[in-house]
Amino acid sequence: MEVTKGPSELAEEDEFQRMRDLGDFMIYRSAINKLADGEWSGNEKKTFNLGPLKPSLMGEDPRLPSMPENPTLLDFFNLRFGPSKQHLLQSAALAQKNNLPEKMILACLLHDISVIAFFRPDHGYWGAQMLEPYVDEEVSWAIRMHQALRFFPDKEVGYEYPEAYAKRFGADYKVESYIQRDYEYARKHKWYMSARMICLNDLYAFDPNTQVSINQFEDIIGRHFKNPKEGLGNDNTSASHMWRTLRRPANAL
Ligand SMILES: [Fe+2]
Ligand SMILES: [Fe+2]
Repeated sequence: MEVTKGPSELAEEDEFQRMRDLGDFMIYRSAINKLADGEWSGNEKKTFNLGPLKPSLMGEDPRLPSMPENPTLLDFFNLRFGPSKQHLLQSAALAQKNNLPEKMILACLLHDISVIAFFRPDHGYWGAQMLEPYVDEEVSWAIRMHQALRFFPDKEVGYEYPEAYAKRFGADYKVESYIQRDYEYARKHKWYMSARMICLNDLYAFDPNTQVSINQFEDIIGRHFKNPKEGLGNDNTSASHMWRTLRRPANAL
């Protein structure tokens, strides 16, 4: 009788194959990714099993470009952010063209780093947390709040509800209560316009035919981003672990 393999067994086989391909190291996918891909749905009855102990990756990931020992923000930009970093670069270029203050150009340059490199859900909150120890408080505050503000028009400054959102989420999409709450809080805050500026320079920034280089923002990064001398991730802040995870995203533990 032919035995059909379930999705989790196939995924395990695939992982073991990759392990062999990569020199016998077990390279895990994060539990959250497995969950998101539905690999555990319908598996409630499966018993807990640690499985055989395999040699596991703990260190630099051989599938990724190697990073310098003490990496800077620029190194993460070049070696860990995927092609969609053009969205960040184009947003920052637009902010520069619109003569925004330097720290707001930096905010535009970094506003979606979580989408680009880390987690999509709640990206404004994650991004702000990654950056808080290294940027002016106003910059991380604006990045956190742009997430909520993007759902709310402000006709006075020419910000409409994005058409793309109506298409993606449906015309009757309603934000969750924490987004509503944070919008109301941000609306009355002294830095409201800073978060709003991110939305204004974000919306029209995509152009597949334009390639903006990070080099054009090196001076601004130098003046407004506190790169730790030990390297991002080797330092000891409330966000160091996030940069370490980004550097070595498949470490076993
Ligand atoms: Fe965003
Ligand atoms: Fe964006």
